[in-house]
Amino acid sequence: MDDQPTTRANRVGHPESSRQAYSSESGATHGSLAFPGASGLLFEQAMAQTRMAVCLTDPHQPDHPIVFCNAAFERLTGYEEKDIIGRNCRFLQGARTDESQVARIRDALAKEEVAVVELLNYRKDGSTFWNALHLGPIYDESGKLKYFFRSQWDVTDIHEARAEQRHAKAMAREVSHRLKNVFSVIAGIVNITGRSMDARPVASRINERVQALGRAYEPTLDEAFMGTIEVGQAIRAILAPYDPEGDRVSLEGNGVRTEPNAISSIGLTLHELASNAIKYGALSNETGTIDVSWHHERDDHDRRRLVIDWKESGGPTIEGPPETGGTGFDISETLLSYSNGTLEKRWDRDGLFVRIAIPIEQ
Ligand SMILES: Cc1cc2nc3c(=O)[nH]c(=O)nc-3n(C[C@H](O)[C@H](O)[C@H](O)COP(=O)(O)O)c2cc1C
Repeated sequence: MDDQPTTRANRVGHPESSRQAYSSESGATHGSLAFPGASGLLFEQAMAQTRMAVCLTDPHQPDHPIVFCNAAFERLTGYEEKDIIGRNCRFLQGARTDESQVARIRDALAKEEVAVVELLNYRKDGSTFWNALHLGPIYDESGKLKYFFRSQWDVTDIHEARAEQRHAKAMAREVSHRLKNVFSVIAGIVNITGRSMDARPVASRINERVQALGRAYEPTLDEAFMGTIEVGQAIRAILAPYDPEGDRVSLEGNGVRTEPNAISSIGLTLHELASNAIKYGALSNETGTIDVSWHHERDDHDRRRLVIDWKESGGPTIEGPPETGGTGFDISETLLSYSNGTLEKRWDRDGLFVRIAIPIEQ
């Protein structure tokens, strides 16, 4: 027995080398694998403390065994040092380890290159973990290959998160597909009913609204799984048909996001505003324009809300509010009230100004 104190990191146990490199002058303790001097001591202490699983392998020995591992390696894999030292790292692989990733490691080792690989590994108890490993050659002073060094992280959480995200995206695509079907079925029903009841104009008004709703949702579905959607995307999609040349409606806003549910009221309100503008407002002549902008702000009670401003100008001069509010605004106000939103209207001489405000859930 050596009488030097032993630290966890330097209990390196390759059968041939474990006893050979004890260096009393460096302070490195027994069992050390030729890590002499102060830097050897620092290496060992750092390896003992890091939570990253680390090992060194010796490419000059038969089957390229592990000659050093730290405590984090043992914790991650469930193997004890005595089960690890002297074995090739492939003992961590199993039936579901991707052979193409193993081939990448083989290739990097042959070329003495650095490789970063993610592959499925197995613990002693048979459970699996995703191993993000980074390995590369270590040379001695004369430039001769001495070891391969490998650090590894358990990235199982990241893998699961990615898998969940892929699943959520696939679901969103499916929902989007079904929703499109639902919208076209509704359109069909409304048309047939309108025709059979001699109410085609009514049917086409209803259908325009249904289509606007569909347009509002479509571009946002892909990201609805994130819990919120980008307002600008929905606004652009709703208003695109009303400005085919792209020179009458200007849009300004950053990537603010809102709850997916708010999209119905925003979609239908903007649709009503745009169809009104075509009939009576800024889009009813050749020169009028509409500025639409959106942002988040705090209201008087310090609650966050989404604000969308609609400002028409250059259309026919407005003498005052219309005599009737119109069904469109009724629908918008009703839908907005479901999400505690408000619709503020101002008939300026130059053109209609509307502010849509919807509280954002904290
Ligand atoms: C330093 C080093 C660390 C390695 N660590 C791992 C590891 O954590 N998990 C793993 O599956 N393979 C690891 N490998 C790869 C295997 O040891 C082996 O090189 C690979 O399976 C390809 O060789 P083979 O075709 O002989 O199995 C490591 C290799 C080296 C050199």
